[in-house]
Parts: sequence; structure tokens; C-alpha cells
Amino acid sequence: MSGLLDGNLAVVTGGASGIGEAIAKGYAKEGAHIVILDNNLEGAAAVVKEILDEGGEAWSFKLDVTNRNQCRELAGQVAEKIGQTSILVNNAGINRRNAFTADADDVTQDWDDIIGINLSGVFNVTHAFVDQLRATKGRIVNIGSIQSFLHVRTPNSPAYTTSKHGVLGFTKALAAELGKDGVRVNAIGPGLIETPLNENARANNPELIQTFMDHTPLGRTGKPEDIVGPAIFLASDMSAYVSGGIIMADGGYRTV
Ligand SMILES: NC(=O)c1ccc[n+]([C@@H]2O[C@H](COP(=O)([O-])OP(=O)(O)OC[C@H]3O[C@@H](n4cnc5c(N)ncnc54)[C@H](O)[C@@H]3O)[C@@H](O)[C@H]2O)c1
Repeated sequence: MSGLLDGNLAVVTGGASGIGEAIAKGYAKEGAHIVILDNNLEGAAAVVKEILDEGGEAWSFKLDVTNRNQCRELAGQVAEKIGQTSILVNNAGINRRNAFTADADDVTQDWDDIIGINLSGVFNVTHAFVDQLRATKGRIVNIGSIQSFLHVRTPNSPAYTTSKHGVLGFTKALAAELGKDGVRVNAIGPGLIETPLNENARANNPELIQTFMDHTPLGRTGKPEDIVGPAIFLASDMSAYVSGGIIMADGGYRTV
């Protein structure tokens, strides 16, 4: 069987759950070997088992993306034990909703944690793997958001909005710098995708969900699988002349 990603080694951060899990499984079906890096090792190992059971190749390692030294050590281990990484998906992320003017301790903690994981984490992991990606003429796929552009209708999340604007800026900056090495760098901007990240909002904040739906022409929330096609496209030769871009997979959210 031949797949669009045969011969690739793909590292997926946050692949134990939600969007990262779906991308890891989707890449494996297209022939990539998968490394899942997540601070939830049990969840990552369960996804690896599913991939192996389907006849794929996969490994899991525990990683906190905020730990720069651990990122470097792991990149070395992956190269030594498994091979050179040719696809990096920077997907690990968190969200919390507190207004900037809410409790000062909460807001400060949100800022440190969200910027630390969603933005500095992307820097840490990319920096650790960049030599392998340059050696393989690799591809980087960063997970942005509608909040890479908007703050209207996405209230009480200044740190998350800032982190996802930052992810888009980082995507463009790296695309500009790494193009000469044959490395392509792009992002995906998911809309409201049903994952544990927003379980609480979906259960307890119907007004917020309704606001999302009122601005989603396709009239439904997304599933993690809705992100897999764009992720395969950006990692494969089908997008050979695409770099520095973002594919929105948001049901049309930004059109209305
Ligand atoms: N679900 C959505 O509606 C939505 C929309 C836009 C963007 N996103 C983005 O998609 C990405 C994936 O989110 P999801 O919805 O699948 O959430 P999720 O909670 O299902 O998965 C996030 C994964 O990241 C891992 N993770 C969290 N902190 C980590 C850390 N410090 N180090 C390593 N791993 C860590 C978690 O263990 C988990 O496996 C995030 O970047 C998120 O911001 C999600």
C-alpha cells in the first residue's frame, strides 16, 4: 500500500488527545512513522497502540513542551533511536477563559501557562528539531486558531488570542528563514472542534457555543478528523509550493 507520507517520520506534540491524536492516526494511515510527544504518556501510549494494531509504526515519549532542555534531549533520542524527523506538528496546547480584568492571580497564571505551552512550547520543540528538519527538507505544521486573527466573539481569552497570533507570526518568520533549506512551514486554523479542550464550554456555556454556531456557515461544530485532511496536505508533496500560509478549517467562521 502506498501513502502520501511514505518514508516520513512525523513528530506530533499533544498527540495523546483530540486534534493531535487524529493527525497522528491520519498520518500513520498515509504511511508516516509517528512519534507522539505529550505530557500525558498514558494517553500517548494508547494512541501508539492503536496505530500499531492497525499495522503502522509509532512511538511515544513523555514531554512537557515548556521544558527546553527536555525538548533538546528528546530530539537527540529520536534521531539516535528512530531516525531523522521530516514532519513536525506543533499541536500541544491549552486554553482557559478569564478576562484580563478578572482575578489578578488567575490572569497572571493563565498568561504564564498559555504563553509557555502554546507559544514558547512551539519555539522549544521547533528549535530542538530544526537541524533534523533542515537535513530532511522537512515540513512544519503549526496549529493556530480563528484566534490567530480574531478576538471578537471569542471573549475572555487574551492570553490564548495572543499565543495563537504569535503562532501565526512564528509560522511566517520561519517560512521566510527556512525556505532556502527546503523546509516548508504552514499553519492550520481550526474553528470550534469537539475535543477535551472545550468540553467544559460545550457542557456549561451554551451562549458561547451558540455564538460560534451563529457564525459558522457550515452549521456544525468540527470533529478532530476535520483537521486531518489539511494536515496531510501541508505535510505531503501535494503542497510542494505552499509555505508561510494558514489553512482555516473553521466551517467558514471568518466569513460572517
Ligand atoms: N479544539 C478546538 O476547538 C481548537 C480550536 C483551535 C485550535 N485548537 C488547538 O488545537 C491544539 C490541540 O487542541 P485539542 O483541542 O486537540 O486539545 P486536547 O486537550 O484534546 O489535546 C491537547 C494535548 O496537548 C497535550 N499537552 C498539553 N500541555 C502540554 C505540555 N505542556 N506538553 C506536552 N503536551 C501537552 C495534552 O496532554 C493533550 O494531549 C491546541 O493547540 C489548541 O489550541 C483547538
